[in-house]
Amino acid sequence: MTRTLRLLASLTLLMALAAGPALAGDAAAGKATYDTLCTTCHGPTGKGDGPAGVALTPAPRDFSVGDFKFDADKNGTPGEDADLKLVIKNGAAAYGGNPVMAPWGHLSDADLDNVIAYVRGLKQ
Ligand code: HEC
Repeated sequence: MTRTLRLLASLTLLMALAAGPALAGDAAAGKATYDTLCTTCHGPTGKGDGPAGVALTPAPRDFSVGDFKFDADKNGTPGEDADLKLVIKNGAAAYGGNPVMAPWGHLSDADLDNVIAYVRGLKQ
């Protein structure tokens, strides 16, 4: 990345942070992560119909529906960005779910926010 791009990226991040709890993720950036790591199970349009996803029980979450199950931060409301973030980071098994939804602990905070923004956008 050039210095200018780096500066722009930091400015964008600062602006996103200043905007408060609103979703800071960049869906376009999240698509790259999704296409690389998530489509095999969740499918290209998020329907849970990726080649490795069709045979799984519980099935991969269908992102085109947009309903989520785990209340990972135990605040009484499942499916918030904070919940999704914890499930993606720590894996579903940590919250009583299917262990094949493995932890993606190597993803940075920004990567997680971006991929969540992309997943939210798959709702039809
Ligand atoms: C090996 C298959 C597989 C891969 C790869 C995979 N998932 Fe999943 N995912 C699942 C399954 C299965 C579930 C359902 C777990 C359950 O309900 O017990 C799930 C559930 C989820 C949920 C639902 C959480 C909720 O509260 O309902 C989210 C969000 C999610 N995955 C995101 C991702 C993201 C983002 C990636 C890529 C970084 C990814 N998954 C990669 C199989 C996979």
